[in-house]
Amino acid sequence: MPTLLHLDSSPRGERSVSRQLTRDFAAAWKQAHPGGEIIYRDLGHNPVPFVSEIFIAAAFTPPDGLSPELHAAIAVSNELVAELQTATEYLFGVPMYNFSVPAAFKAYIDQIVRVGQTFTVGESGYKGLLTDRKATIITSSGGVYRAGSPAAPYNLQEPWIRTIFGFIGITDLDFIVADGLTEVELGKRDREQYLKPIREQIAALAA
Ligand SMILES: Cc1cc2nc3c(=O)[nH]c(=O)nc-3n(C[C@H](O)[C@H](O)[C@H](O)COP(=O)(O)O)c2cc1C
Repeated sequence: MPTLLHLDSSPRGERSVSRQLTRDFAAAWKQAHPGGEIIYRDLGHNPVPFVSEIFIAAAFTPPDGLSPELHAAIAVSNELVAELQTATEYLFGVPMYNFSVPAAFKAYIDQIVRVGQTFTVGESGYKGLLTDRKATIITSSGGVYRAGSPAAPYNLQEPWIRTIFGFIGITDLDFIVADGLTEVELGKRDREQYLKPIREQIAALAA
């Protein structure tokens, strides 16, 4: 069954542009996949824990050697990894924060990049395990960082997302970029008019 893992990482609610756009994508996806299932995770409002010393010990202990305490330390991580393994497609809403990603999204990545679970290390090096899955990343930012623009070198968001997802095997990525939002926030551009072409792009992609 097609299964979409839909994740939001903006702490904002109705004002959030990335949330609004992932919601549009999920609705279009559901129409295109009437029998499909959507798993939803709201990192912006329900962040996952930071990794801790006991988490690290547990993550590097073989499953059959885990004490109840170690097992508990990676219970959330196991749940998050299981969602990624179950899903056949991913949808992530990720605002740009300080040229990178919100801490809630980074905390999620720290929970899911796990040896033996989402990547392996062998004689030929690292191998990502979440292959054959497509991801759509919807980013939002106040400024504009597209290739060729003066601020492009400051964009540590998209290259990092590509690198870390590639590391765990997710290489089929589509980015939908809602940038230049400062003008919308300041009321210099109408939000609905701004969103219209992006929504059309989303409808085409989700279908
Ligand atoms: C803490 C914080 C840091 C931000 N850092 C940047 C930044 O480095 N570059 C940028 O263009 N916009 C930055 N912004 C603006 C957000 O990317 C923009 O408001 C975006 O729409 C937020 O996503 P959301 O609408 O889904 O909440 C920042 C906003 C906040 C609250």
